[in-house]
Parts: sequence; C-alpha cells; structure tokens
Amino acid sequence: MDLITMDDLTNDESISLLEDARRLMPVANGSAYLPLLEGKVLGNLFFENSTRTRLSFETAMKRLGGEVLNLSDVGSSVKKGETLYDTMQMIDGYADIAVIRHPRQGAAQYAADAVEIPILNAGDGAGNHPTQTLLDLFTIKQGHGTIRDLRVVLVGDLRYGRTVHSLSHALSRFGASLTFVSPESLMMPEEIVRDLKSNGCDVAETSDLLSVLGSSDVVYMTRIQRERFPDEAEYEKVAGIYTIKSDDLANAPSNLMIMHPLPRVSEIHPSIDSTSHAWYFRQAFNGVPTRMALLCRSLGVPIPEVIN
Ligand code: CP
Repeated sequence: MDLITMDDLTNDESISLLEDARRLMPVANGSAYLPLLEGKVLGNLFFENSTRTRLSFETAMKRLGGEVLNLSDVGSSVKKGETLYDTMQMIDGYADIAVIRHPRQGAAQYAADAVEIPILNAGDGAGNHPTQTLLDLFTIKQGHGTIRDLRVVLVGDLRYGRTVHSLSHALSRFGASLTFVSPESLMMPEEIVRDLKSNGCDVAETSDLLSVLGSSDVVYMTRIQRERFPDEAEYEKVAGIYTIKSDDLANAPSNLMIMHPLPRVSEIHPSIDSTSHAWYFRQAFNGVPTRMALLCRSLGVPIPEVIN
C-alpha cells in the first residue's frame, strides 16, 4: 500500500492506524522490543533536508528489528545526474518499502508509479505530508481524547505548507471547524478551500491570530517556508509575521494545544515550552509509533493485540 495523500486512507483506516500506534508505544519508547520487521529493509530517500521525518522513520524501522538504507542527494549518484525514475528502479531491488521526500510536488506519486514496493510520501514540495498528518492526529487524540468535531486554527505559511494541506483535509473529514490564519500572500490555496467547503467543512480565514486563541482547541503553528519563495524580497515581507508567546495564552482554554510540525524559527516563543499548552516536542516523538504502525500496515505485518 502506498501513502501519497490522505485520500489514500479511509477514516476507519486512519483510526485503525492510530490505535495500532497506541499499542506500539512501548516499542517506540524502547521499553519493549518487538522485531516484527526483522529481515525487512526500508529505503529512506531524502532529496530535501529533514530531521524528524527521516530519523523517526529510521527509529521506527530499527525498533521493529528492520534495516534502513539512507539515500540523500549528497553522496549518491543523483549528483551525477541520475534520474528519479532510475534511482527508484535501484531502490525497488534493494528495499522492501521506501519513504521519499522531494522538492517537486507530485514526485512521490511519480516514484510510486515507477516501482512495485510500497512508497510513503514524506513531503513532496508544497504538496502533501500525510505521515505528518497521522502523527498530528495521534497527538490531538492524546491531548483531547478525540479527533472529532474540534476547533482547529492553522497558522502561518498555508500556501506552501504541505503539513497544513494534508492536515486540513484529514481534519475536515472528522468534522473539524477550521480557521486559517495567514498574511494575504500565504493564504491557503483556493482549490483546497473550495474542496474543504464543498465537503461541508466550516472554514474561516483571517490574518489576526490573537483574535482566535480564546475559542480554539488546537493552534497549529507553521514556519514560513523560505525555500519555496521564488523571490527573497517576498519572503522578507512576511518573515517572523506570527510569534505566539505565553502571555498571549492568558485567556486561552486550559486544554488548548499548541502544535508545530517543527522546525520552528520564531513562531513559538520558548516561554511556551514549559506550559501545559506545549505539545510540539511530544508531537515530534509521536512520529515513531505512528510510522511504526504505518510501516507494519504497508508491509502487511499484523500487530499483536497486547504488547508487553
Ligand atoms: N515535520 C517535519 O517534516 O520535520 P522535518 O523536516 O525535520 O522532517
């Protein structure tokens, strides 16, 4: 099974993956060892920088007893001009499953069409980042006990941010009300807003972050994606536009979750780190159990009901 966008999963499949991830938590944190993927090889193909996605997939595979091949454009024959198609033919022979991050939107689907093994999209340009969405949903469930009918605010670079593209689709399917907060130049793409609304999602748009903090269950901050701007001067106009700090949360609901896919630049002031609102580091860790669940599912390996 490939995972290219969240449309590749039904709601029931997403919920089942979150439940698998919950059961795998002792393996993810190293208190249990369960070599379900012994003898399996993961190809980690990163053509763009990554800390969390690459390392959490690697941790997930290794904690389940599997092996990992790492390919980046530094140190591979991509630098010699090898095409993505040819690179994928090699991985098809060397690995049982592959994760791909690529700067070009659509590259993950292209890679999946080129090979037999399952392909997991770890971010394709400004397109989608569905494995991030799974860990985001898992984290929201940890915080609120449900992923249904929540009021979620997505903040920052909604134009280029692939995490918010995937997450907004998934949340809308679970009945969320979405508020998009961005400067005009970085608004959520019209086709996504249209799609969400046509599926019955309640969507609001504003540039005023502080005005919506008091009536939200989740605030999902994002970095302005400097690397996607065609013009550095345009980036400078919006760099650092949203920063949330602990004083801003004085009237926020006590269970408001502040999330961020990370890395952060200046979007979340460190004064929030020690508050109960800070979920972003737990969120990053949750990449391990959710990606374990996804690897097992994609490789057709069942997860035991009870794990000690
Ligand atoms: N959230 C996320 O995709 O982080 P990385 O870019 O470090 O993988």
